[in-house]
This record gives sequence, structure tokens and C-alpha cells, in this order.
Amino acid sequence: MNASKQFKESVHDQPGIYYDGQLRLFRLRCKNSLYAFRVDDARNLEHLYWGPPLTHDDDITYLIRSHVPAPFDPKGTVSVAKIMGLDELAEIEDFQELSDKWKIYTRQHDEDDPEGDKRSRRLENASWRIWHRERNRGGDLSDPLSADAVADALKLEKRRREQSESPALDQPREPMANGAAQGRFSRPAHQPSAPGLKRGPGVVSMVNVAALGRESEFPSLTAPALDTPHARASPLQPMDRKDRLPSSSSSPKMLPKVPSTIYSPLAGSFGDLTMQEQATNWRELDPEVLGKNTKLLEFSDQGTGDYRDPSFKVIFSKDGSSVCPIEYVRHRIVDGKVMPRRMPALYTDSSEEATTLIVEMEDRLTGLRFALHYTVMHDYDIITRRTVVVNSGKDPVTLNHIYSGTFDFDAESQFYMTHLAGGWARERDVITQKLEYGTNVVKSSRGASSHQFNPHIVIHPGEEATEDRGECFGFTLVYSGNFAASCEITEYGRLRVNMGINPEGFTWYLDTKRETNTFRSPEVVMSYSNAGVGGLSRTLHRVFRERLIPRQWRYKIPPVLINTWEAAYFDVNHEIVVSIASAAAKADIEMLVLDDGWFGQRNDTRSGLGDWYPNLDKFPRGLKGIARDVNQIGLKFGIWVEPEMVSMNSDLYRAHPEWCLCVPERKLTTGRNQLVLDFSRKEVQDHIYNELHKMLNSANIEYVKWDMNRHLTEVFSQQWDRTRQGEIAHRFILGVYEVFRRLTEAFPQVLFESCSGGGGRFDAGFLYYSPQIWTSDNTDALSRSAIQYGTSLAYPCSAMGAHVSTVPNHQTHRSTPMKTRSIVAMSGTFGYELDPRTLTSDEIKEIKGYIELQKRIAPLVYEGDMYRLWSPFKSNSAAWMFVSRDQKRAVVMGINIRRIVGRLLPRLKLRGLCPNTKYEVEELCPGTLMRNNDTGAIEHVIGGVYQYGEKLHMTGKTLQNAGLPVKFIFDADSVLIAISAVPGDQSSASVLN
Ligand code: GLA
Repeated sequence: MNASKQFKESVHDQPGIYYDGQLRLFRLRCKNSLYAFRVDDARNLEHLYWGPPLTHDDDITYLIRSHVPAPFDPKGTVSVAKIMGLDELAEIEDFQELSDKWKIYTRQHDEDDPEGDKRSRRLENASWRIWHRERNRGGDLSDPLSADAVADALKLEKRRREQSESPALDQPREPMANGAAQGRFSRPAHQPSAPGLKRGPGVVSMVNVAALGRESEFPSLTAPALDTPHARASPLQPMDRKDRLPSSSSSPKMLPKVPSTIYSPLAGSFGDLTMQEQATNWRELDPEVLGKNTKLLEFSDQGTGDYRDPSFKVIFSKDGSSVCPIEYVRHRIVDGKVMPRRMPALYTDSSEEATTLIVEMEDRLTGLRFALHYTVMHDYDIITRRTVVVNSGKDPVTLNHIYSGTFDFDAESQFYMTHLAGGWARERDVITQKLEYGTNVVKSSRGASSHQFNPHIVIHPGEEATEDRGECFGFTLVYSGNFAASCEITEYGRLRVNMGINPEGFTWYLDTKRETNTFRSPEVVMSYSNAGVGGLSRTLHRVFRERLIPRQWRYKIPPVLINTWEAAYFDVNHEIVVSIASAAAKADIEMLVLDDGWFGQRNDTRSGLGDWYPNLDKFPRGLKGIARDVNQIGLKFGIWVEPEMVSMNSDLYRAHPEWCLCVPERKLTTGRNQLVLDFSRKEVQDHIYNELHKMLNSANIEYVKWDMNRHLTEVFSQQWDRTRQGEIAHRFILGVYEVFRRLTEAFPQVLFESCSGGGGRFDAGFLYYSPQIWTSDNTDALSRSAIQYGTSLAYPCSAMGAHVSTVPNHQTHRSTPMKTRSIVAMSGTFGYELDPRTLTSDEIKEIKGYIELQKRIAPLVYEGDMYRLWSPFKSNSAAWMFVSRDQKRAVVMGINIRRIVGRLLPRLKLRGLCPNTKYEVEELCPGTLMRNNDTGAIEHVIGGVYQYGEKLHMTGKTLQNAGLPVKFIFDADSVLIAISAVPGDQSSASVLN
């Protein structure tokens, strides 16, 4: 390999975004994957590839050969020239007058269409020059202008232009950082020490995100569009028009009108090309022969021939039309990430960590513009996508739906989709289904991401991926409101995935004022792994832990808490809380969370929500007093709130009945006896913010559990006019985010946990504000092992609120051993949800032991990589392990959900270890029960029952290939194993970093 080639390879192997002007090709290079698309001749964004990295020098535009036109699909759109005043010109005899008029018309044309349809104008110009020449020659102007004549004129015109512009095409190219010829690459993003030219060359020079203002969500207007010298040099330029014109083609029209066939030489038929020619000569099929339905697209409009679920739908108020063809206009590549305003999203710590591509597309007729944002997060196999829409036209437009992104997959023998479905107290079962012909939608219309579905899906093309093997493509929406992920299998066996806000009931009115002409979609996180579902989850866990949750909580292990809910429910008061805290202190619990029941007239679910001040009958010394007393006992103090809700029996509702979501004069639907506040109203947001601000300032509160205990109905706001009612569900969640943002900014030291009737809003949107989320109201250890397993497909265990509760369990009435309850809770943010006052001294001692153990294990759970080993959805047991990043330590947890008597378990094959490292395998908290084979009785064993002796020494290879034998002897039995590299082991020294 010569030096320059080597250099190019190394440059393009680095994460970043690369634009090839000649091919009009965008390569989004992630850590171990590549995503590529191009601008086709019709200015569509045509998707080419997503998968493992490819050789940079390969011209992957050959991939479009897989597009074969179908006879019934509409072909490419054709541009109709806008000829101004030529009819009138034809009537004018006086040359001077003619020439003056011509100038006026030309100017008008320019003003009407500042961007200018240059091609139309060139044709117009050519026709005009021919006509003028004929006129001067005294020719017969009533003859039809032949297409050949115009094509000749065009050729001449082209030659003339090329001559006058050739210096621009050959402009000297900028040298690379190390002086190598730049070739087809444009300028580098930034130039760290040579030769390490890093990511991100674009058509325009790189811009640092920090330097960009509001406008930065769109590429700069000064950025060159496609018809820059770069693009003109493209080998994919439409071929010479003459070559395509049927030779017999001629215009029936009279001069000087330009015959329409000139603009659509193949309109209405395949022209002269035989089917075979079309199939083999792919360049000639593009753009007029290949319609949009035949292509893989990055963004798709409705009404111009793509019959799949489009990326957006609009209604133009001017004429009610909904046809909105959009075309590539320009793009910009910038360092870092352009954050959406007031919306949760992945963030970066510095602009070196990401590169962003913003592609602008436009409906040229109306000026409706779309900025598609793509950000490559350099340290992960992650690309984020979102869409910004701006109405820069003259008339209002209603968006009827807008997805954050469209993702087309080429045909596969089969596609599978995994998603997380469930219900209250049974959240996030893992469902994998074969996608069949038609559309499959995972969605929520409840105003929250919901218990029922989750804004996270995984596509497995070809074969169903396993935990360790197979390609997986993940889509996770950073959003907590109504969402939809639709998967459409087309007649070609291709798949379109659309993800974003649920279109049902959604509209957004874009008027023409600067402040209100823009809509921003939420962000979708696209992840890739060719190491199975497990590989995909580990990438998501890392990026969510490192670049989604608030920075100040990154890898911070929260205090072990006790929550009063299952201990006392609504029956809380100063004395009870103090006594719970005192009992908890004996077990080394570190924080008390005062759950529901402390405020207003709150004695059950029928009253009090909205009145966020302490009930002085229950807490005569207020929050300050109870927080102080709990602190004196040695525990931190936290509190529960449900800010989005209001009880009809509350001071807030009595003062402001119009502040709830409802349609005036219609009956209201209650849920858990409560109504939903209209968070689309600024005054409601301000009121709740002020009340919570006051509350947090009133006492030493170090933790807040933010709950939401019912879904939205009667989604109507009395604040907004009729054009805006379809916006309320989205405005609601934006309002919630806004209050959350203001509060977390005002109280950065307060740890927030979000919650929604358990895990009804466990999504990436809320993780942006609160590093942990209550996973489920079901605290039974066996139910929880399935719920937490399913949740871990997308979200890290460090985000999962998990508590040890009492037995029999309050949701299932099942009794499970303390060991099993502790192991399951240790796999999340650890705490207790029981009445410590009822514990015996032995139980307190036992709990102390588990808390001590949890302190040892927590860093692995928080920072390590999670490997799921046994699925509770496919077997009768669950098992997973966490491995430290240096692979020196790991902890393995296994839980038996249902014991089938007489049936042996498979060996537990470990994952994520170094094959050649010798590990010590130690069983922690061994079992205490054993069957006495002589009597048949189950007996307690002093000293513990070990699975395979107290300790083993094995290499990673053996532990992963042969596995560990595990015996469970009763339902809810469990195992906890610590793994650590044997110190001084030479093999480990060589493979560990
Ligand atoms: C929800 C939560 C519970 C508890 C109750 C209080 O159901 O998920 O943990 O806080 O509300 O009403």
C-alpha cells in the first residue's frame, strides 16, 4: 500500500463523518460500524449501507444496482419549467421592446425563485436563443422547435459554461495536514497532530458546535449546494440529456415554449430502454426511471410515489394539498453535537467526541425545509438522528406526522424484531417476533412511554440473533411521550423502520412567524452490534451511563435507601417515619424516602395531589422537622412527589379547575381518582416549579422520587386555540421536561428518581434528567428478575430502582428467601421497601451482611459490562453477570424461577472473561438448605451448601466453554458468584489492560 493510500485508510478508519463530493456519498464511520448514503440524481437521500466497516476505497454506490424498477411503480418526478411571459414575447415585433421585456421577465423569474431552477432557466435561455437566431435569420417561427435543436443548444451552452468555469473545477486543492494530496476528500474537521487527521471532512469547512447559534440546526445558507464544482465533477451526474432523448422526439408546441418532453424525456414510459437495458444500465435508470418506491431512502415524502409509511405528512393550508416532494439542498458537517433545544438527548463532554452532519432538504415550491441531524458518537457504535422542520414559506402548514428518522433495510430472507412489552407490574417482557408482510407497530398513545410498550426495538436481519451472535440494529427513542416504531415489510422483502412521535392524534401547526415556524423531533439513538443482542445492550448501557444521565451522577453509587410505601402506605406521620428511620439505621440503611401521604389532605388516592406542602397534622414540624430528625438518626432524607397530577379534592383544583386536561362541558375521566394537569400551559409549569422549589428549599431533601400514576385522557387544553390541539400531548411532555430541567439545574445535588406507577415511563427521555427510574411496582424477586432482565435489553442496571421487599410479597403473595431478594435488588439501585420495625435481630444482622456485600458488588454493577446468561423468557431460570472493564473481576447472579423436579439445569457458561486468565471463582452466600438423602427431609445446614466447593481456580476459557454446574433445590433458590483474576498470573498480565 502506498503512503497516500495508507493515510486515507487510516483517516477513514477513524470515527467521524466523511463526504465524498464526487460520489455525493456520506460515510458515517462509528467505532466498529459504518452507515452510508448518497444524494442521488433526483436529490433524494438514498440509503446504501449499515453494518461492519467496509474498505474505504470501494465505491459502494454499486449497491444501488439492487434497485429494480417495478412496472406499476411511478417513476421519478420530472421538473416542469416555469416559463414566464414567453407567450407574450412571441407576439412582440419590436426588438428593443422584446429585449427589455425579456430582461424584466428574467428578473421576475429570479425574484420569484431566488434559489432558481437553473436547469429550467438554461433550457428557457437556450430556447430563447434559438428562437432569436431564427428570427434574425428570418426563419419560419411557426415551426415546432425540435428536441434535438434544444439539446444541441444546451450542449453548446454547457461547453461555453465549462470554458468559463473550468478554473473553478480545477481549483488547487488544500493540502492535507501531513501534506498528502487531498484527492477527493474535502477539508479535514480539525487537524490534530499529523498524521492523525481526524474525522469529519465535509463540503464546507468544519464548524465547532459551540460557535453555532440557533440557526446551527440548519446548514448555513452560505454552504455550497450540490451544484458546486464538487458535485459537477460527479460521475453520477445525469447523463447527457441528448443521449436519452428518443431520437424521434419533437415538440408539438410552438416556439418559443419549451416542449415538456425536454424535461421529461422518459415520462410516461420507459422511453427507448428495454427492460433488460434498464436492469443492466443502472445509471440510465436514475433518476427518471427509478421512482422512490424502488429505493432505500433516508427520508421519504408522501404523494410522489413512495407508498411505504412516509417520514412525514403535511397539509398545506393554502390549498389543502399534502404532496410535498423534498430534495437535498445543502449540508454541513460540524464537530461535536448540536443539542436540541429543551429536549433530552445524548450529549458530549467535548466537541472532540462526536461529529454531526446536518442535511437540509426542501420542498422548493413551498419553502418547507427539513434539517436531518446525524451525529456519530465516536466512542460507541451509536448514531443519533433527529429532524427539524421549518416553514419558511408564505402560508401556514400543518404537520400531520413527523418521524425522527426513517431506516430502510435491503431485502433479507427474513427479519425479526425484538421489543419490550407488558403491563403494570409486568413491564418489559422480551418479545421477539418474525416480521411478516405488512406493518407492525409498537406504540404508545397514553401520553407516557408506558408499561405496555417501550420506545426501544431491535431488528435482526436474516436470522434471529442470540445474546452473543448475530447482527442487531437498535432504535431507542429519547422520549417519554406518545411514540411509535413501525416496521413495514414491503412486497420486495425490504424493511422500513420509522421511529418517532406517534402520529395518532398528533398535529403541529407551523405558521410563518420566526418563533413558531419550527418543529423539532425527539432524538432516536441508532445502535449497531454484530455480537448479538448482548453486544447491543452493552453499547447502549455505556452510552446511557456516560452520555445521557446527568453528568454529576455518572458512576456514582447512590445510598442504600428505605422507602416508606410498602412499610406504611398512606399511614405516615412524624413519629412513624422517625421509628422507621431508627430501625433502618440499625441495619446500616443510609437514606429514608418518605413516599406518598405526607402532603395536603392526602390520606388515600382521593385527595391532596397538587398541594405540595406538608400536612401539619401528620408532620407538625414540617418537612424541615422530619428531615432534621431523620438526619439526626444518621440517614439522608428523600421525598415523593407526583407533580403532573391533581386531585379534585385539592386546593389547587379548587383554585384552578381549568388547569387540568379536559374538554369543557364534557365528562372527565379519572384514573386512580386523579386528573392530569395541563403541562402545556406555561403558568402550570411555573406554578409546579415554584411549589417544588419551595419544598426543596424548605428542608434538607437529598432525593426526590417523581411519580406519574395515570395516563392521559381528554387531551385538550383550554389555553390553546383549535389549530394547536393536536400538539397538546407533545407540549405536555415538553412542559414536564422543562420543569424537570429547571429543578435539576436549580438543585444539582438532589438525586432524582423517576417513576410512573412503577416502570411506566422507563425510557431514555427521563434518564436524561434522573439517573435512575423505579423499575416496577412489582417487588417480588421472581417477577423482578424477569422485569429487570427485559429492561436491561436497552437500559443499564445502574438505572433500575430495585428494592428488597417483605414476604409474602405484596403483589404476588409469594415468599422468597432474603438471599434471592437481595441478589435481585443488588442488580439495580439497591434499597428496601419493607417495615424495618418488624425485623428480628437476626434479620437485621442478615440485612447488614447483604448491605456490606452490595457495597463490594455495586461498582461492578454500575461500571461493568452486563452479560445476560439465562433468559427467564426462554427457561425457568434467570442469570446474568457483570464484568469489570479490565476483565479482572466479575460477579454472577442466578435465580431459579420455577424448579422442575428431577430436571437438571444446563451448565452456566460465563461470558466476557479473558480466555487465558486464571480466575478464582468464589461462591458468596452459599445455600442453607439441603435434602437429607437418608430421610428425605429438607434440613438447614450450618456452614452452607456450596455448588462446587467453596472456591475454584479456572481459566476464562474453561468457565466460558464448559461453564459452571449450578443446582437449584427449590423455587426461588439463587446463586451469587464472585470471579477475580488470580493475582500475578502471567497469562492474565498479558491479556488484561
Ligand atoms: C406509585 C409508585 C409506588 C408508590 C405509589 C404511591 O404506584 O410506583 O412506588 O410511590 O405510587 O402512591
